[in-house]
Amino acid sequence: MTAVTAEKTETATIETKGWEPKIIAFCCQYCAYSAADMAGSMRLQYPTDVEIVLIPCTGRFDVILALRAFEKGADGVYVAGCLEGNCHFLDGNIRAKKRVNFLKGELAGVGFEPERVEMFNLSASQGPRFAEIANGFTEKIRELGPRPGKKI
Ligand code: FES
Repeated sequence: MTAVTAEKTETATIETKGWEPKIIAFCCQYCAYSAADMAGSMRLQYPTDVEIVLIPCTGRFDVILALRAFEKGADGVYVAGCLEGNCHFLDGNIRAKKRVNFLKGELAGVGFEPERVEMFNLSASQGPRFAEIANGFTEKIRELGPRPGKKI
């Protein structure tokens, strides 16, 4: 009974302070970034709190980038790259997927929900899919709430 009350109080506090999920999306320049561009051209809606960081290939993503994003206030981080088998650097997206899975395990070990980090694959022509990912991931993070330890 007390826990429910505390939970409701915490939720109300977050709502009154206007918390919105801050998301960092590491997007490879060939597919995911082009898909984001297309989503913009198609005037598809996705949250303005999704901040896109352009990287040459998801193979350049490493756990330090994600940890730094969390340190700077992100509530969720995702990596978006080319479809498997279509990476312009052959296997960058496969290596990124392994790093994301490794990071999920490490985050769980320090009390973060592993769902705060995800990997997505899409092609350059999937603007609607990009918007769908951005919206879906943001909603998932909204349900989880602010990242552990974040000062609101
Ligand atoms: Fe897109 Fe490697 S170039 S994931």
